[in-house]
Amino acid sequence: MYPGTRRWPRSPCDTSSSWATALGYHERMTRSADMRRLLPPKAAVLGPMAGVTEAPFRGICKRMGAALTYTEMISAKGLHYNPDAAVSRALLTFDSGEVPCVVQIFGSDPAIMADRAAWIVSEYNTDVAAIDINMGCPVTKVVSNGEGSALMRTPELAGEIVARIAEAVTVPVTVKFRKGWDEANANAAEFARRMEQAGASALCVHGRTRQQFYRGTADWETIASVKSAVGVPVIGSGDVFSADDARAMLERTGVDGVMVARGAQGNPWVFREIRALLDRGEVLPPPSAIERIEMAREHARALVAFGGERAVTRMRKHVGWYIVGMPGASHVRERVNHITSSTELDVLLAEYAEYIVGPAG
Ligand SMILES: Cc1cc2nc3c(=O)[nH]c(=O)nc-3n(C[C@H](O)[C@H](O)[C@H](O)COP(=O)(O)O)c2cc1C
Repeated sequence: MYPGTRRWPRSPCDTSSSWATALGYHERMTRSADMRRLLPPKAAVLGPMAGVTEAPFRGICKRMGAALTYTEMISAKGLHYNPDAAVSRALLTFDSGEVPCVVQIFGSDPAIMADRAAWIVSEYNTDVAAIDINMGCPVTKVVSNGEGSALMRTPELAGEIVARIAEAVTVPVTVKFRKGWDEANANAAEFARRMEQAGASALCVHGRTRQQFYRGTADWETIASVKSAVGVPVIGSGDVFSADDARAMLERTGVDGVMVARGAQGNPWVFREIRALLDRGEVLPPPSAIERIEMAREHARALVAFGGERAVTRMRKHVGWYIVGMPGASHVRERVNHITSSTELDVLLAEYAEYIVGPAG
């Protein structure tokens, strides 16, 4: 057992079928208060996106008004067998402006997951806002191991994972899941009740089934049904691309907060726009083309500072998102895709800004 790990409430051999939380009343109330502090009313949070929401981008979104950020999903098994792997350490690096950050882990072995969650909290302590468990990832490589959204088909095991982690750490434990495995097994509300009973302090539901991946529209009725089913805060995820969408989801589902994932790609301003609309009834103008290019440059500098010169290739997709719809964007995208140095990228973006301003500028 690693330092900082508390003992499980039950022996691993215990085959008892109901994984209700073993946390005492006081502990549950403390975590619930912690969770409510992290999630102010009508919060807009940045959704975890593997390969997209690295620390520098999360820091930018937090500055723009995201109430909370999440790491990309991190394999508990990977952390168990190789805790010092550069990949895991990079995923567990935070931006100073975003902390505390929610750390999302995935896996299917309750003992390993609880152990790694305790290790994360003891190693990164005040940087960790909560431990989130991924029960929504649809990727075949993940679900074929019984991880991610496959856990919605084994709610008993999912409950055990939550209960064990909640016992092993002192921070709130949250769960992110989907509408269900497929339409015939859309068990989100029932699943939510079970996760709450197991000790989750907040839940996030994406209104699509695993079978849908990211296709079709997110079912907000399901999100509303999850909100009605539990007492812990619920965050709704799926198809929030603007401040209007955020307001509509809050009104139609009654959720405590909304998650923005794809809507933040190349558009961290979405959080500022959501706050302006929800807090002051104000509709902000969209960022100008120059602001977008300048943000791309700032993001690139931060990403290279974080991940080294090689990270510049990971900036390509972000640049594409920042400039989408702008004059000459396809030409810039084409050039960006061949760039391998941060200086080259910065020069290209500076030239693009000059082009946008025009000869009179
Ligand atoms: C590229 C990409 C990567 C994602 N990675 C994760 C992840 O690591 N963990 C997770 O819980 N959800 C992940 N998601 C799901 C999002 O967090 C979100 O729930 C989903 O995209 C629906 O929200 P949206 O319509 O605002 O994009 C990912 C989504 C995308 C598009």
